[in-house]
Amino acid sequence: MEQNKGTEPEKVSEALRRQAEQWLQSHRPAQQSAYCEEDAQRLIHELEVHQIELEMQNEELRQARENLERALETYSDLYDFAPVGYVTLNSTGCIRAINLTGAALLGLERSRLINRDFDLFVAAEHQETFDTFLDRAFASTGKETCELELVTNGTARLVAQLEAMASTARDACQMAVIDISKRKQLERHLLQAQKMETVGLLAGGIAHDFNNILSVIAGYCYLAESKLQGNEPLMFNMKQILAAANRGENLTKSLLNFSRKHLISPHPVDVNEIIRTVDTLLNMVLGEDVQLHTVSGETVLMVTADSGQIEQVLANLATNARHAMPDGGTLTITSESCCITSESVTAQGMYEPGNYALITVTDTGTGMSRETVSKIFEPFFTTKTLGNGTGLGLSIVYSLITQHGGYIDVSSELGTGTTFRIYLPLISAADIPRQDAQPLLSRPEGGSETILLAEDDTAVRHMTEQILAEFGYRIIAAENGDEAVQKFLQHKAEVNLLLFDLIMPHRNGKEAYDAICAICPGMPVLFMSGYTNDIVQAKTLTTGLELIEKPFSSDDLARRVRAKLDAQASCCSS
Ligand SMILES: Nc1ncnc2c1ncn2[C@@H]1O[C@H](COP(=O)(O)OP(=O)(O)OP(=O)(O)O)[C@@H](O)[C@H]1O
Ligand SMILES: [Mg+2]
Repeated sequence: MEQNKGTEPEKVSEALRRQAEQWLQSHRPAQQSAYCEEDAQRLIHELEVHQIELEMQNEELRQARENLERALETYSDLYDFAPVGYVTLNSTGCIRAINLTGAALLGLERSRLINRDFDLFVAAEHQETFDTFLDRAFASTGKETCELELVTNGTARLVAQLEAMASTARDACQMAVIDISKRKQLERHLLQAQKMETVGLLAGGIAHDFNNILSVIAGYCYLAESKLQGNEPLMFNMKQILAAANRGENLTKSLLNFSRKHLISPHPVDVNEIIRTVDTLLNMVLGEDVQLHTVSGETVLMVTADSGQIEQVLANLATNARHAMPDGGTLTITSESCCITSESVTAQGMYEPGNYALITVTDTGTGMSRETVSKIFEPFFTTKTLGNGTGLGLSIVYSLITQHGGYIDVSSELGTGTTFRIYLPLISAADIPRQDAQPLLSRPEGGSETILLAEDDTAVRHMTEQILAEFGYRIIAAENGDEAVQKFLQHKAEVNLLLFDLIMPHRNGKEAYDAICAICPGMPVLFMSGYTNDIVQAKTLTTGLELIEKPFSSDDLARRVRAKLDAQASCCSS
């Protein structure tokens, strides 16, 4: 059997041997009878057996000890590198033991954490929550949980879930510390998306009716204008009405943008170009006391975007910045390219890795409290007094950026200022289609064909009838889908084009069109809608069917009607 000289077990056995000899000395009988030869042989044999027995026991013990040490090592690793932090607290909340994950979460070395009070790392506003939680944990026999914010590294915050259970002796408790910051962030984004969806539905509904009203106002204005040539004072009044209708149209567009019911018209555009274009507008928004600095790099930052909507985003941010700098300050807008890697995605929680154009908008204003920052993208959240803010500015910004496949985040410090960062996906040169010059639009041509018009809104119907009549067309009008089908059956031979509102009672535009197609396949149709809802579009319009968005100008309508009729004529003659 292999023995290491002077090892710990050897020393122990030597000491034991000395003790055994002393014991034998003191207990040996005074007159010991001499052993006979046979007894001596038996005794020697017994001793040898015992010695082997002891050595075997010794080996077993050594094995058991080795196994124990290995198990301890394994469990220490499991403890130290567990995905959650484990902390042992005494009854006053002082850290007695902590694993390496826990130490990393708190941002200090383990040795510097032992004997410190855990509540030193609890955010000031959550101290009370923590105290009650600890009391509950020591009082109960089961597991207690709570959610609060921890301040690590002196400033960084993380949202943590704590789970604690007291020991049977109630002199300590084992506590798990789980970092749930990322989950909370995702939950916030989901909640935000749901709120936007709800408010969006509402806004989309209002925009639908509003577009009908605007169509009527604008339509009659166009009609009146054509009759008023030469009557300058009345022409002036008419132009004012048209301008107001256009403003209303822009407002509806904002609502539709916000509700995601409006199709954005994206095209490849250089972000630097947008910033240069919007410069004058922003200077007007910011006023004299606020300096505007725009810093863009040399490189072109091509993205697929609706430049008008990105301009609106910047205008909304600038408006807020101006309000945050009542005594003047500086607004800096920078643009650069930025690569979001998988590692930074993990850190930020929700971005797609890739190359982005990063627009940073920084003001030197009042800044915001953490509570305000957490709510700013919520629709109708405002800190402004009644009548001074709707609380829609940043919700629209958020909605527009998300529609562009981008992201927006914010950092702000009270008394120092605020920075918004907008990420828009960059596109490569290969993704940019060749641009052909747009021909200048001339006054549209009219015609003498017959159009079957179906529109449930009486005012819009009358106005559309009049516009088309002005261009020489003959109109057969219907108030709903059912009536449109009946009128078609009566005038089948005369009708050259169907002009149907998409959403109508009884039968909607698409259903009425389908019924007509069953009788007369290939009948040309143009749909009208003030509600460019993606769902309506996807469900009702198949490829090849066209839509004209309300409100439309009389020229737009006439142009689309003529184009449709011409396309049909060339299709029939070929
Ligand atoms: N740059 C900023 N500095 C300080 N606070 C800001 C800044 N931007 C936004 N806020 C805060 O966020 C709130 C919401 O902004 P948002 O643009 O959505 O609405 P609003 O400006 O209040 O109203 P609206 O834009 O609809 O007129 C503001 O009321 C303000 O408290
Ligand atoms: Mg605003």
